[in-house]
Amino acid sequence: METFLKTLIKQAGEILREAFYKKTSQIKHKGNIDLVTDTDIKLEKFITDTILHRFPDDAVIAEENHFEIKEAKRKWIIDPLDGTTNFVHRFPFVNISIGIEEDEQMKYAAVFNPIFNELFYAEKGKGAFLNDKIKLAVSETNKISNCIVATGFPYDRWQRGDYYIKEFLAFTKTTQGVRRTGSAAIDLCYVAAGRFDGFFERKLKPWDMAAGSLIVSEAGGKISKYNGDKWHYTNDTIVASNGKIHSKMIELIQNAHN
Ligand code: IPD
Ligand code: CA
Ligand code: CA
Repeated sequence: METFLKTLIKQAGEILREAFYKKTSQIKHKGNIDLVTDTDIKLEKFITDTILHRFPDDAVIAEENHFEIKEAKRKWIIDPLDGTTNFVHRFPFVNISIGIEEDEQMKYAAVFNPIFNELFYAEKGKGAFLNDKIKLAVSETNKISNCIVATGFPYDRWQRGDYYIKEFLAFTKTTQGVRRTGSAAIDLCYVAAGRFDGFFERKLKPWDMAAGSLIVSEAGGKISKYNGDKWHYTNDTIVASNGKIHSKMIELIQNAHN
């Protein structure tokens, strides 16, 4: 499975890399600021066709086509292009994200940014790696004032931005900085790599988080909902951290609206 997944995501990465340096993408609006391009669609078709050709009994949950969710021992949770707005503006935080769940447990995960040539990969119980060579480990920082964290804003931010910005402000006032990459899968991988100490975001979808969540936990990180409860990729809030600052992050989020 490891070889199949890595080969697939690298082939998809080549499609994404080529499209990134061309200026020909067709852009459609799913919402006022929620975009989809012909590259998202092309990637999804390539990835799902390749998987279902090899594993016809498997279930596929992918962003653009919402495949019928069937009962299957193995489920593939796919974001064919995470960071579509970045892609449209040719800001290089783009990736393909593929998580594989077996018997209700995330088992394999790969997130590939072909512009930076970074492949994040994890297998349950076997650790997380960058480009096969570097074993990933979350940071050791235990003081929030020494941290940088990442976040993103949901697509209803034109309506609810005043609310979301309070959480952003709470971290801006207590950390060394808040980063906003525009790619949730990359944010999670960067927590795993110790580049970010923590990450929080609302209203993400399973395909934004499934692969990245296994990469974080295999790198020794912690994941929960905003209230600290046990997290699942169908939940609509996520806090991911190095573990040491986790309760402080929950406290900052909870108090941001007081
Ligand atoms: C988006 C990115 C972004 C997050 C959005 C997601 P997309 O995914 O992960 O960081 O803030 O909520 O929808 O639409 O580019 O695949
Ligand atoms: Ca996404
Ligand atoms: Ca996407």
